[in-house]
Amino acid sequence: MALLPILIYPDVRLNKVAKPVSLFDAQLMRLLDDMAETMYDARGIGLAAPQVGIARRVIIIDVSEERQTPQIFINPAIITTDGEKILHEEGCLSVPGIYEPVERPAQVGVRAQNEFGEWFEITAEGLMSVCLQHEIDHLEGKMFVDYLSPLKRNRIKSKMRKEGRKAPPSGKKRMGVRSPMRQR
Ligand code: NI
Repeated sequence: MALLPILIYPDVRLNKVAKPVSLFDAQLMRLLDDMAETMYDARGIGLAAPQVGIARRVIIIDVSEERQTPQIFINPAIITTDGEKILHEEGCLSVPGIYEPVERPAQVGVRAQNEFGEWFEITAEGLMSVCLQHEIDHLEGKMFVDYLSPLKRNRIKSKMRKEGRKAPPSGKKRMGVRSPMRQR
């Protein structure tokens, strides 16, 4: 296993649309292992392959207390959303130290493949739902800051650029999708 460097916003590679996975081979297993090690080391709860410079439709998520076994979603697609929206404070390992509320559907149904290529479906709500939507967005080259106002986004962009010049990103900041906040 190896730690992978995490790309920091506004790196243009984060805006690429990722390609589907068709080979469920040893190389994919290695990527999954490396992504898990990278996510746990950075104390994140989710990581998408494009964040480590791999433009493939692979995400891992672990919102559990134990933080030992990530849930794997390969070629994931949102197949259902419920009408209700929730406002949730989100963060991202690629935008360290920034937390902003984003509104998303409260519940999603997702279809994906596991590491062996077997299809499965899950319905998620709360933190898991937010995290799945956030990570699947990464596969479309979309970041949570894209939901913010242009003014806010530009402030974040220049802050990231400034910090990027000062020191290399430590990777030690948590991706904080914090406690759920129901909208009025
Ligand atoms: Ni993210």
